[in-house]
Amino acid sequence: MDTSTFIASTASPIHYTSSWEAPSNIALIKYWGKKEPQIPKNPSLSFTLSSSKTKTKVIFTPHDKNEIDFEFYFHGVQKPDFKPKLKTFFDRISAYIPWIVRYHLEIHSENSFPHSSGIASSASSMAALSLCLMDLEQQLFPEMEQAYFFQKASFLARLGSGSAARSIQGPVTLWGKNETKKTSSDLFAVPFGSSLHSVFEEYQDTILLVDKGSKPVSSTQGHNLMHGHPFAENRFSQATNHLSELVPIMDSGALDDFIHLVELEALSLHAMMLTSSPYFILMQPNTLAIIQKVWEFRKETLTPLCFTLDAGANVHLLYPNSFRTEIHSFIEGELSGFCQKGQYLFDAVGKGAKKV
Ligand code: PMV
Repeated sequence: MDTSTFIASTASPIHYTSSWEAPSNIALIKYWGKKEPQIPKNPSLSFTLSSSKTKTKVIFTPHDKNEIDFEFYFHGVQKPDFKPKLKTFFDRISAYIPWIVRYHLEIHSENSFPHSSGIASSASSMAALSLCLMDLEQQLFPEMEQAYFFQKASFLARLGSGSAARSIQGPVTLWGKNETKKTSSDLFAVPFGSSLHSVFEEYQDTILLVDKGSKPVSSTQGHNLMHGHPFAENRFSQATNHLSELVPIMDSGALDDFIHLVELEALSLHAMMLTSSPYFILMQPNTLAIIQKVWEFRKETLTPLCFTLDAGANVHLLYPNSFRTEIHSFIEGELSGFCQKGQYLFDAVGKGAKKV
């Protein structure tokens, strides 16, 4: 399949309003390094989340300007400073949705998680917006198949933010062409499939908010630093190998192997940051303190609790639903003190985006 599959025709404009909710996701195999246009250097795999999400409403009004025209509101407040990023996104995707120039778009977006919590909202917001665009396209071309709808939504979202490709469906998605999953693609994410072990359908993710400030180095800058990075090629093969190892683990539910790979991936991502030029550190002292506590707790209690990290200082704690009572007490008693204002968010693996 190539990009031409996703070029729509034009059609007479209609008045339409679309609302979609799309979740955030947390990568187990990390995407770090890309080439134009937003093509990953290695495959990645993530849990789709449930409570951390973006809700977006788009009011499409036909106009005669023949250009991309929109306004953006965040939690009800008009935000002109968000427009350049969105303009870049629309410019990138307009070849695939040529009907867009016949509309004025009023975009209203809100996040379920607190603003500046250090949780990246680009994945859920780009996914929700892409779904609204696809919703209109489906009204224009009602013969569209459901599989195509989700594939193209993921394709468009990817052009806004790479990891957004994985925020359309659930509970586990995979993005990036690889030998292990024949249906995989660099252009869009695909669901893991029915072989997924049931333990992962209810897996829990508690996000410990270690640092809620904005990151000193953005993920765009971080991806760019992989160009010419001395360990880049080894990292891309390591991630590809990790994916091949993780897929059978996700099928069998072998939690010890799962924990080993997930933590190794998190630390490998941050090792790339530590060894970039210029080098940088997104972890904070409390990130490391939490990791040490998790390791001690796991050794003492043999509870299958592990951590992963995003491009930031916050820690995602991953564990099976059946262990939630004892892990919640551990978090409250031993880890909340390492969080900013004692704050953390309970989330869990979710089923994917939905129309609202
Ligand atoms: O989608 P981006 O460009 O914000 O990059 C995301 C990178 C990581 O969150 C660190 C890893 C991932 O695969 O989600």
